[in-house]
Amino acid sequence: MAYECIKVETRGGVGLVTLDRPKALNALNAKLMAELLEAARAFDADAKIGAIVITGSEKAFAAGADIKEMQSLDFVEAYMGDFIGGWDKVGTVRKPMIAAVAGYALGGGCELAMMCDFIIAADTAKFGQPEITLGTIPGMGGTQRLTRAVGKAKAMDLCLTGRMMDADEAERSGLVARVVPATELIETAIKAAEKIAGFSQPSVIMAKESVNRSYELTLAEGIRFERRLFHSLFATEDQKEGMAAFAEKRQAQFKNR
Ligand code: CAA
Repeated sequence: MAYECIKVETRGGVGLVTLDRPKALNALNAKLMAELLEAARAFDADAKIGAIVITGSEKAFAAGADIKEMQSLDFVEAYMGDFIGGWDKVGTVRKPMIAAVAGYALGGGCELAMMCDFIIAADTAKFGQPEITLGTIPGMGGTQRLTRAVGKAKAMDLCLTGRMMDADEAERSGLVARVVPATELIETAIKAAEKIAGFSQPSVIMAKESVNRSYELTLAEGIRFERRLFHSLFATEDQKEGMAAFAEKRQAQFKNR
């Protein structure tokens, strides 16, 4: 499949998507988001792929939604056209997605990174929700996901002042899982994704589903949900294999069954 705004490759059991609109610092538009969703869904459906990495360039993961393309929209066009409506479908991909962020992750770029399951940042990364400087607010979940990730104080600070957070502050705040030197970013993200891809896919997908449920359920309901999934995994061959391999002091050979 030929894409215009992204590059797609596989590295073993890992699907790698590179955002590729360098002249616009990977600003997100309908075409790029449709391609990204198509590529992510294709990896999701491919039994050989166990995890997905989304990355950008050294300078920018993505500098936000494309301002030049949306600047002339009026309310009725935005509302009736459901502007950016389908973009958060990236969050419906079932296999784990890692955002490997170098440079700017601003506005929709920060929001896209937060739709992924975790973020590995280069020491050059800068995160922000600068929409307020444009006379608008985040529209792809920034006020919601950022607040859940870093708490009200930092989320208000970023959304109201439009300032950027560097990689260290983002890690301290809980937005980012790890910070690595920029030269090691892709390899670190691929290695983490390969590690995930080596585990049993049913358990990986259930772990992701269960962590995500913690955003939506009360603690008691979430724990009940987790317990049902935990019990259900005793029905898999891979649970038998994983525990037998531990007892026999050997490497597990998972079959995703
Ligand atoms: N949309 C469209 N084009 C963009 C863009 C964006 N979000 N961000 C950068 N570009 C373009 C610039 O217009 C410029 O194009 P030209 O060469 O044709 O002039 C090119 O990318 C390079 O950008 P700069 O020259 O500005 O590069 P810089 O290094 O001086 O600055 C930057 C980098 C600080 C990231 C700056 O580009 C910037 O502030 N970008 C906008 C960030 C922003 O406000 N993002 C939020 C968008 S709104 C949104 O995302 C809403 C939502 O929640 C869905």
